[in-house]
Amino acid sequence: MNIVPTGRSLGATIGGIDLADLLSDSDFRTVLRALGQYGVLCFPGQSFETPAFAAFARRFGELEVNVANQFHEPDFPEIMILSNQVTPDGKPVGLNDAGQGWHTDMSYSREIALANVLHALAVPVRNGTSVGETQFRNMHAAYDELPESLKHTLEGRTATHDFEKFWEVMRQRPGSRRAKLTDEQKRRKPPVSQPLVRVHPLTGRNVLYANPGYTMWIDGMDRNDSDTILDYLFRHQERADFLYAHRWTVGDVLMWDNIGTVHNAIADYTLEEPRYMRRAQVMATLDYRSLVG
Ligand code: OGA
Ligand code: MN
Repeated sequence: MNIVPTGRSLGATIGGIDLADLLSDSDFRTVLRALGQYGVLCFPGQSFETPAFAAFARRFGELEVNVANQFHEPDFPEIMILSNQVTPDGKPVGLNDAGQGWHTDMSYSREIALANVLHALAVPVRNGTSVGETQFRNMHAAYDELPESLKHTLEGRTATHDFEKFWEVMRQRPGSRRAKLTDEQKRRKPPVSQPLVRVHPLTGRNVLYANPGYTMWIDGMDRNDSDTILDYLFRHQERADFLYAHRWTVGDVLMWDNIGTVHNAIADYTLEEPRYMRRAQVMATLDYRSLVG
């Protein structure tokens, strides 16, 4: 296995490993450490079917079945399909608007996610270059670069996150296929409070844990003050030096840290430019400190 950092704020490419084979214990720990260190890991040129893909992802923690799960691989409810494609009789084959806005997966969930794993089976290409990139921002760096006084203000504070916030933003977009969340879906993912600053289980360092997609307000604070601080934090996250954009190639397996990054999908492609990704949501269910310590 060889790890080549991008040299940017996030990202490394890992070659010399076939993810269709079960990872050895030492490779598993190396990947975990790299995930903490680089935030976004690309394993290029991977080819495996759903069972092996699911087995790879499951190594890192339990896999979540999405509360609004509509599109998944047959017999694998935990393996979602993201795609802009439709069948010949007009049925969508996947979720066509995943992640289009800055967010952190599962921040709306009591049990948070460690990572997200996508396998690119079709990537939109225009004039020889891939489009539909996925952007990331480094929340270790974002925390480190906060003014000391604000770090102090955030200390010990929590914020409320709500699945419905991002869902409604997406649902209001023209042409959205999303239905209003049912009471049952809302009951399964009620709003939750999360620390604004948390210790990352892989690095032991503080990260800023707030994202425009799901974060509603800072708990126990005047709403105007909360809005002002969250606005500041979301702008701060936009600093160019925190950004890394992944340009996809067919066969890429991309694994990203869902505690120490925020991400955003750029939908700059058309129906004639197919995109198809398998997706697994890895929950933070293992004792990562002891695995990387
Ligand atoms: C996700 C997501 C981004 C993309 O799967 O959680 O945000 O580029 N996807 O598909
Ligand atoms: Mn996402």
